[in-house]
Amino acid sequence: MKRLHWKIFALAASITTGLALAAVLLAPAGAFTGLTFLKLVVVGLLGSLALSWLVVRMALDPLEQIRALSGQLATGRRDQRLLWSYGDERDATAIALNRTADRLVREIDEAQREAQQLEAVLSSMVEGVLVLDVQDRILLVNPGFRELFGTWGPVRDRTVIEVIRQPEVDDLLAETKTTRAPVIRDVPLRGGADRTVLAHAIRFPAKGPPAGTLAVFQDVTEVRRVDKVRRDFVANASHELRTPLTSIQGFAETLAGGGLAPEDAERCLETILRNAARMRDLIDDLMELSRLENEATATELTRVDVVRLTRELLVDLGKRLSSAALDAHLTTEDAPDAWCDRGALEHVLENLLTNAIRYTDAGGQIRVGIEPKADLLEITVEDTGIGIPEQSRDRIFERFYRVDAARSRAVGSTGLGLAIVRHLVQAMGGTIRVESEIGVGSRFIFTVPRAPEDAEAAD
Ligand SMILES: Nc1ncnc2c1ncn2[C@@H]1O[C@H](COP(=O)(O)OP(=O)(O)OP(=O)(O)O)[C@@H](O)[C@H]1O
Ligand SMILES: [Mg+2]
Repeated sequence: MKRLHWKIFALAASITTGLALAAVLLAPAGAFTGLTFLKLVVVGLLGSLALSWLVVRMALDPLEQIRALSGQLATGRRDQRLLWSYGDERDATAIALNRTADRLVREIDEAQREAQQLEAVLSSMVEGVLVLDVQDRILLVNPGFRELFGTWGPVRDRTVIEVIRQPEVDDLLAETKTTRAPVIRDVPLRGGADRTVLAHAIRFPAKGPPAGTLAVFQDVTEVRRVDKVRRDFVANASHELRTPLTSIQGFAETLAGGGLAPEDAERCLETILRNAARMRDLIDDLMELSRLENEATATELTRVDVVRLTRELLVDLGKRLSSAALDAHLTTEDAPDAWCDRGALEHVLENLLTNAIRYTDAGGQIRVGIEPKADLLEITVEDTGIGIPEQSRDRIFERFYRVDAARSRAVGSTGLGLAIVRHLVQAMGGTIRVESEIGVGSRFIFTVPRAPEDAEAAD
């Protein structure tokens, strides 16, 4: 029993004992014999003890229940309520306390629901979220943050520099203390693969004394890369167009100046025409690329006999092959049909063969092979040419990329061919890759879907 219980118990016991003793003492003299008197005292004492116990129970039962209720609420149990009914003001107390308990339970539920919602939102964000307290200790980070910065251990109450070791992020967060406006900028991430994140950090709340810092990080590596490719593209395209244009202008001015011998004038005109043709080719390629980028799926699928198409192409290229003293062969006699856009496939093969001719020295060999693979055809264009350095192998499919820009420009190439080829192959649902060895040769391998058995006959 608690102290309060003892006090009430002692009080009730003394009152009842007093009453029993008073009853005995006030009885007329000689009313009890010695033994009967003793028995009466004992019975009186026991009775008073029992009575006191009853009084204590009755007085303390409500308090006991209230204590139990608050204990249950504190430990998270929410179904306990006060159920007594004394028919007096204690009942009103029970009703009031039960209402308070109901409200508390509702508020706890609501707070838990909100916390779960916030947790779900933070977990599903690909952006990294970081919240710092006013002492710059970490309050929370979301899974996106962990993923972005590769941090997996406990972070709570640690500093940012301890956790992610990126001084640029630390500097950015420090800057939020000097301004109430958000600090927004790209931050390069060190380590592993080079990445760029766009960080957006701000002290909160917007008004009043600061309570902490909130920062959101978004991986913009790919966006920035595409941006750079576009900027380079415009710069490259302008440069490539400008070169022949400068030449045209120069020779046209010379012509306009007059006084040229007829054969010199003719040479001027030839140069003008050659450069104009180059400009037209370049613009055609640029338009083709732009068309492919904007309507990648607009290809017309038909059954195509690749063996026949390759043979026809090799015949068409016969003059160029013999003037370059190259031997070109199709090594496959028979192959299943492809299911693709005939014009696109022709364009791809022609581009790869033209490259093989262009980048193979006299006496070299060019081989085309077609091999069925599950639901694909794997087509290989192989040469014994100059080869492609390893560091350039991924880049040759970029627009305007040329391994040796001077040599390429001399032969009038612009570096758009393979960019178009890759687009066309992908638009047909295939892939392209290159294998090469310097001085030994290059092998371009691409895939196109195979025609289904029941498709219309090839044209
Ligand atoms: N078969 C090959 N052997 C060696 N190098 C090659 C071969 N094919 C392509 N390359 C290299 O890849 C670069 C890009 O090729 P791509 O076909 O895109 O451009 P290009 O041939 O220079 O110009 P274009 O095809 O637009 O007239 C070439 O400049 C060349 O350096
Ligand atoms: Mg080319």
